[in-house]
Amino acid sequence: MAAARIVVLPGDGIGPEVTAAARRVLDAGALQAGLQLDYVDDLVGGAAVDAYGVSLRPQTLRLCKTADAILFGAVGGPKWDDASPTSSLRPGTALLGLRKGLGLFANLRPVRVDAAMVATSALRPERVRDVDLLVVRELTGGLYFSKPKRRYQTPRGEAAVDTMRYSTPEIERVAVRAFELARMRRRRLLSVDKANVLETSRLWRVVVTRVAERYPDVACSHMLVDAFAMELLRRPQAFDVIVTENLFGDILTDEASMLAGALGMLPSASLGGGTLGLYEPIHGSAPDIAGKGIANPIGAILSAALLLRWSLNHEAAAQAVERAVSHVLAAGLRTADIAGSGEATVSTGAITDAVVEAIQSPATT
Ligand code: IPM
Ligand code: MG
Repeated sequence: MAAARIVVLPGDGIGPEVTAAARRVLDAGALQAGLQLDYVDDLVGGAAVDAYGVSLRPQTLRLCKTADAILFGAVGGPKWDDASPTSSLRPGTALLGLRKGLGLFANLRPVRVDAAMVATSALRPERVRDVDLLVVRELTGGLYFSKPKRRYQTPRGEAAVDTMRYSTPEIERVAVRAFELARMRRRRLLSVDKANVLETSRLWRVVVTRVAERYPDVACSHMLVDAFAMELLRRPQAFDVIVTENLFGDILTDEASMLAGALGMLPSASLGGGTLGLYEPIHGSAPDIAGKGIANPIGAILSAALLLRWSLNHEAAAQAVERAVSHVLAAGLRTADIAGSGEATVSTGAITDAVVEAIQSPATT
């Protein structure tokens, strides 16, 4: 098989540290599986603003279009202004430009509470044990992208507008993806919306209900987003696949990360119609701890597992990485963000070494 082309976009803050960790693990997994990987590195976010004056260069987007997969770190930091009126200077624009430019409309955010992490969760152990849910977040529509979107002057001062727009095909394709995923899991799908207030949500509900007719083997239900935000903490074990629009999914997955112990634990896969995918931890660039070697690389490492699964179609290698992470957590290794009070902590590098080792000697895992 020809070598798979992986574009690596470390970005800013802890992005380079966790991406380096993920890449080491990816290499170990690929070696075991007999997969060949070719890496190409490029700058995005604040790093690209500094080097090129824009957060995402057109050639970077073109490079990604020729890739099999993209390994992404994180973007942003105090050095670059998230509120800059010039969008090409905002680091976050790079990520949004990649998602949109590559047509990655479905963002998979699995939330699995590892047995070893039950005590670290923000919730009581009996509530989070065995939590295994998958949020499918719509990623290229809604408030993030719809027009008009601007700030303008009025006689009474400044005003601003963002627009939430969804079309039937946009809802349908992400719903289909979510139903397909539910079929591979426990066959339950919950669609989360705000149909009591939003016109887009009423359309969302109609379209999801129509798609559900094609999946009679999947139990489909609907919930309002405010109620779901509460139920997610009250009975997280009850959920399997959740499909929701862009901004709701953004907010709900940060909330869900608290079930798993920390934001640094959660991976994500952004997929479109084909096998090209962008893989990134759901956490940000954490500038306060950047360069200290203490960042939690597990979200990035588990993103590498998703890359093996969804873009390289190598389920065995993906599971080998996931098992290695579980093994290392069971052995008690903890970065600072997931350590209990009084528990010893290890560096980004040390926990990565342990994962790589566990992949290389699977007999011990
Ligand atoms: C995420 C992030 C991004 C988002 C930001 C960095 C633009 O919060 O991936 O969840 O809002 O989608
Ligand atoms: Mg977010």
